[in-house]
Amino acid sequence: PAHATTPSPFSIPSELPPLPHIPGTEPDRSVLDSFRTAIAKIVAEALPPLTVEQVYTGVDYGKKGVDFTVAIPRFRLPGKVDELAAKVLNKFQPDEWIESVVHDKAFLHFTVRTSTLVRLVLNQVHALTHDTPSKEPEYGTNTSGAGKRLVIEYSSPNIAKSFHVGHLRSTIIGAFLANLYKACGWEVISMNYLGDWGTQFGLIAVGFEKYGSHEELEKDAIKHLYNIYVKINADAEQDPEVKAEAARWFKRMEEGDEAALSNWRVWRALSVRKYEEEYARLNVKFDVYTGESEVTKESQDVALKRLEEMGLIDDHEGAKLVNLEKYKLAKAVVRKRDGTSIYLTRDIGGAMDRYQKYNFDKMIYVVSSQQDLHMAQFLKVLQLLELPWANRLEHVNYGLVLGMSTRKGTAVFLDQIIKEAASVMHDQMRKNEDKYNAVENPEETAQEIGITGIKIQDMAAKRINNYTFNWERMLSFEGDTGPYLQYAHVRVCSITRKNPELLPLPAPSEIKTELLTEPSTRDIVFLLGSYPDVVKTALRTHEPSGVVTFAFRLSHAISSAWESVIVKGEQDVEKARARMWMYLCARDVLGAAMRLLSVKPLERM
Ligand code: ARG
Repeated sequence: PAHATTPSPFSIPSELPPLPHIPGTEPDRSVLDSFRTAIAKIVAEALPPLTVEQVYTGVDYGKKGVDFTVAIPRFRLPGKVDELAAKVLNKFQPDEWIESVVHDKAFLHFTVRTSTLVRLVLNQVHALTHDTPSKEPEYGTNTSGAGKRLVIEYSSPNIAKSFHVGHLRSTIIGAFLANLYKACGWEVISMNYLGDWGTQFGLIAVGFEKYGSHEELEKDAIKHLYNIYVKINADAEQDPEVKAEAARWFKRMEEGDEAALSNWRVWRALSVRKYEEEYARLNVKFDVYTGESEVTKESQDVALKRLEEMGLIDDHEGAKLVNLEKYKLAKAVVRKRDGTSIYLTRDIGGAMDRYQKYNFDKMIYVVSSQQDLHMAQFLKVLQLLELPWANRLEHVNYGLVLGMSTRKGTAVFLDQIIKEAASVMHDQMRKNEDKYNAVENPEETAQEIGITGIKIQDMAAKRINNYTFNWERMLSFEGDTGPYLQYAHVRVCSITRKNPELLPLPAPSEIKTELLTEPSTRDIVFLLGSYPDVVKTALRTHEPSGVVTFAFRLSHAISSAWESVIVKGEQDVEKARARMWMYLCARDVLGAAMRLLSVKPLERM
């Protein structure tokens, strides 16, 4: 998705009443900023010494059919609310920005001028979708992050262990956040930090000697390594010597013994290749594949040494622990007795390496809430080390997924999850034979809709909530599901195919937007106008659910207008064209929201 780095191809027409500029607003990318500024100006001028900036922060979306509301008490002005409200009402003059204001208890409710709203919003959506210098759709983007760099780590599965739904959630939420920061002007480096190091690789090495096959490895490295891991783990349970041998092997790996490392290198490369294919199907791409193996020994040693100097390390039978009891974060092992490193220490050293390499303004870790303690310990240690960039790190967590299994049993691999989604969706689609036969690539379409179903279910609620995986519900075309969103998008796309005689549409300036007078079109337009705010809120909360909710609201609004605000069959050609343009703008914004969520909007199904 787009990067807001070039000037907007849209600007507020100069014939409209002039407005002051409020820092942080971008009317050329978000027209509602102008309407809010106009309201702030009205209130500030009526109620000195309030400034336009002060009032601006108090202009909220209204409830139930009200465009914007200002709560008077929040400004803590002397005098009665009723008198203050009367001052605003007395001074109010309707103009091309604001049509009316009413006073209701502590509130002032403002209605924006419909003709201006419709014209500006649709022109802005159109220009920022189709006329950008980048040639990429940019509606909804802003430049708040210009010049800043984000490193975001997500997915991070463990080679030779299962890719479980927790990793899938990290992948989905992480991909969304990466898109989101880009949409807000940040330079984004997305990073996959593989679990490719640790004692278990000693175990697999021992297992590979016993059970490994190069042929199987070539075929599907992820599955083969997993099978070896399961078998050798069982052996280790029986035989302590297996464990001891594994520990010795890993120690050799840590010491850089090439003979102990060569197989491991192959496993890793083949696993990454396989992962890349699967991520591509999810519409996810990483700029960097790194892993626990790549954390430098130097950084880990520096960190440990400093912790020791600071008196934060306890010795326990040769193992080293950092004592975080003071912060209610328990004690955590930072180096094992045999001198080998562990997960926590690698995270500490890894952060230092990354700062050196990327000089980031912010680094996000998208990791399950099951690792809250680990992440808190890790971040606390960085703070104790007094690294000046320690507060640039943030853990974005998420709850559990319950009950994820395929029809054949529990899923342990990503490709099983994708296959199952495609096949459940395919069965679903076949239930309607006529429609099914009209689909061009039923297999591909089923996979895409299936993946959309998984992603939307995953992002529909607050991140921290646990949710139960439910194939039937998430893959239904009814209710607020991924398939429904795809359907809504396909349906608006059909409008050009169904009305070829109206095409090509005239240039935006020639389209008679004043003919769009129905309340249901105004609802759609207002929602379109609010999309840049939805993006900004998501950046603040790191929650995809607001974007999902927006996509559903927009789909519902389109659906409500669809039967009454018709294009096909409308006798007045100018009106039919204006309506078509409005629906196409709605399509553009729905598509933008879906892409932000890493979903590929379909044009046919
Ligand atoms: N590989 C780890 C796991 O599967 C997740 C890594 C999370 N990231 C981190 N920097 N600790 O549990």
